[in-house]
Amino acid sequence: MIGVPFAQRDTVRIGLIGLGQRGGTMWQGWAAVPGARIDAVCDIRADRATKVADQLEDDGHDRPREFGGSEGSFQDMLDEVKLDLVYIATPWEFHYAHGKAALEAGANAAVELPIATELDEIWDLVGTVEKTRNHLFLSENCCYGRNELAMMRAAHAGVFGDLSDGAGGYCHDLRPLLFDEDYYTDHWRRTWHTKHNRSFYAMHGLGPVANAMDINRGDRITTISAQASAARGLADYRKRFMPADHPSWNDTYVTGDLVTCLHETEKGRSIRTELNTTTARPYSRINSIQGTRGLFEDYVGTGDSGARIYVEPDHGDDAWHSFDPFLEEFDHWLWKEVGDDAEANGGHGGIDYLLQWRTVQSIRLGLVPDIDVYDSATWCAAVPMSEMSIEQGGATLEYPDFTRGRWSELRQGIDSKQKEMPK
Ligand SMILES: NC(=O)c1ccc[n+]([C@@H]2O[C@H](COP(=O)([O-])OP(=O)(O)OC[C@H]3O[C@@H](n4cnc5c(N)ncnc54)[C@H](O)[C@@H]3O)[C@@H](O)[C@H]2O)c1
Repeated sequence: MIGVPFAQRDTVRIGLIGLGQRGGTMWQGWAAVPGARIDAVCDIRADRATKVADQLEDDGHDRPREFGGSEGSFQDMLDEVKLDLVYIATPWEFHYAHGKAALEAGANAAVELPIATELDEIWDLVGTVEKTRNHLFLSENCCYGRNELAMMRAAHAGVFGDLSDGAGGYCHDLRPLLFDEDYYTDHWRRTWHTKHNRSFYAMHGLGPVANAMDINRGDRITTISAQASAARGLADYRKRFMPADHPSWNDTYVTGDLVTCLHETEKGRSIRTELNTTTARPYSRINSIQGTRGLFEDYVGTGDSGARIYVEPDHGDDAWHSFDPFLEEFDHWLWKEVGDDAEANGGHGGIDYLLQWRTVQSIRLGLVPDIDVYDSATWCAAVPMSEMSIEQGGATLEYPDFTRGRWSELRQGIDSKQKEMPK
């Protein structure tokens, strides 16, 4: 399925599975994209499906069919409604089953992070995509970040020389949300911290660096090794802020506060990712890239971009410079074309809507997806493999090649050519 376009559809019929914090807001962007239509909504909690159906109707859209009430409701939806795209925003443990079922029902699937939590499941999704010839991809909104895309385009233009290393991750103090019994349904996300010592979510940072390095499009990740610091952040927070009758007092936390993965690539580059959601700290996805002629660092700069850069021949003064002029030069066409709509229509500063708009556009025009199952599998394999490495004392493990040898083919990814949205 490398280089295989989406089956073209004039109108994209969308179904949503999982209508909590994420799915319960993402519907707005999906419904707003020209040529997209939400035909069905599903949540195991039927009232959430009704709520989103009501909201869609109040917003002037046709009322979608509602599914809910049981664990199998998603399958009823897939059996009864013909869909072109299923967006899955359920807890991590359900992504594999929901994604696979969507493919087998004849739809494409956009799956929230990660596409699956275990290596055999990830391989199976690759195989199911190849068998059904429908696409499944990670709904990796951060790859559509303005700085991430401009960093990638500058890298592809050779601004940094030969790339040597990059770093990214997901560093976000989630402690208040992890302990909030009204936020993650049945505290599913905190439960993961009691079961696994792994990098749950570093794809937000790995994806953009992989895109800049053309991973699976000329280079590939060959190894992973991972380390975890002690798991102290959640227990410390609980001790200070949680009442004695809070359900979290039954928990024992095992996920290290900082889980670091190191990857090597075929071309001799290194990638570092970090996951830290359990200690006091400001938000960062790190997002940096280094080459022979300079480097870029996000989240630490000043100016509009909030990023900094140092590259030859522009800079020779051993001092950081604002990324702003480079952002202007390397701004991705999606931001120029849809950036204002994106900021008006969706969360996370517009990246959610850009992913939604581009996904719908790609289906309506019958384009090859920006992010395919091979990219998604590569980024998500670090989730289970980080745990395998940690269990073996930080061992360096061979990384799977989901492309089965086709990683060396140069081909376009998210660094796409401008296209008009059909009328
Ligand atoms: N990309 C991003 O920026 C981003 C941001 C937030 C969340 N997420 C991801 O979105 C997903 C959902 O997170 P959330 O914060 O909305 O969690 P949540 O607990 O608020 O929502 C999950 C929903 O799934 C429903 N659900 C559970 N099992 C189901 C089943 N078998 N069938 C149908 N529905 C079922 C629950 O009832 C709930 O409404 C996670 O994968 C999370 O990592 C991604």
